[in-house]
Amino acid sequence: MKTQVFKIDPQKPDIDKIRAAAGVIKSGGLVAFPTETVYGLGADALNAKAVLTLFKAKRRPLDNPPIVHVCDVKDVQRLVKEISSEAKKLMKIFWPGPLTLILKRSAIVPDVTVAGLDTVAVRMPNNNVALALIKESNCPISAPSANLAGKPSPTSAEHVLEDLDGRIDAVLDAGSTSIGVESTVLDLTVCPPQVLRPGGTPFEALAKAIGKVELDPASVSDQALSLEKARSPGVKHKHYAPNAEMVLVEGDSVEAIVNKVIELVGLYEERGKRVGVLGTDETVKYYGMSVVKSLGSRGDSAGLARNLFRLLREFDTENIDVIIAEGTPTTGLGLAVQNRLRKAASYNIAKAQAIPH
Ligand code: TXA
Ligand code: MG
Repeated sequence: MKTQVFKIDPQKPDIDKIRAAAGVIKSGGLVAFPTETVYGLGADALNAKAVLTLFKAKRRPLDNPPIVHVCDVKDVQRLVKEISSEAKKLMKIFWPGPLTLILKRSAIVPDVTVAGLDTVAVRMPNNNVALALIKESNCPISAPSANLAGKPSPTSAEHVLEDLDGRIDAVLDAGSTSIGVESTVLDLTVCPPQVLRPGGTPFEALAKAIGKVELDPASVSDQALSLEKARSPGVKHKHYAPNAEMVLVEGDSVEAIVNKVIELVGLYEERGKRVGVLGTDETVKYYGMSVVKSLGSRGDSAGLARNLFRLLREFDTENIDVIIAEGTPTTGLGLAVQNRLRKAASYNIAKAQAIPH
């Protein structure tokens, strides 16, 4: 299959290109498109055959359902049993935007679209290209991140093509995404609501909007949880992993983290490994080896989020054997960054202890 690439203006998308892409969706094909978080790989959510093709193209396990994207709150009505006042409030405050809501699904949603669950994940993306595509396709669009299963999510059309060129019908290329990590997944079928995946909508903002909200322990765990304990289907699978082995260094002080990173670099280099460091603006000066990248400033969690997946992919193009990454602050989007770093490292976490002076 040849993958068609449509360059498209992110602000004022060319309607002819949107219509061509919508035509592909309507006929059961697969189109990758930008959202404000990461690129998604879209298929008609109500067409079971198309959704099955989607799972195959990204080699995604069939037990992990993608998010259903809508362009209008009204579209949610027919996908779910009921929209509670709390759900309405959240949609009003956060949509369009990086918040996915888990609700009880209606009978029109095919089983494959929700992996046989009795719930469905819905969101309205804050991106003109995505919204126009959903509108012109005239159907809700199932879209997981447009990467091969297990790889870092794509924040540009180039990343999509790295993984999926020749496996999907088309890509709408509108440049880099603005947020860089996926949406926050909030389960509204439990009381109090529970964040299953921290993401582009900060936990603090949700707490401010609805009062009581919890974090699913699995979403903030520093260990891989047993399968029974994982509430979100996505939790059980390998995620965001670069080809290189990765160690994440977490600790209370930046000084302790830096010292531990330097120690680990030495250990791996002694073993003949090519080591890369993922540091921050404040710390990269302490690392003297050849491949050192900065995730951004430790005080700017939105910046850290924006760079994360691109940098993980970059290490792989530089033949690095081991990535040593610094843990970063967990407020705002930092919680999502920590969650992605831990998974990318397959929970291979080294704790840095402060040395008493
Ligand atoms: O920002 C995003 O959310 C991106 C863009 C493309 O919108 N999409 C995305 O989709 O990250 P995906 O499929 O890669 O991640 C969806 C997450 C997975 O962790 C999945 O397990 C969870 O949502 N999920 C989907 N349906 C669910 C359900 N009914 N109950 C619980 N978790 C669900
Ligand atoms: Mg994904």
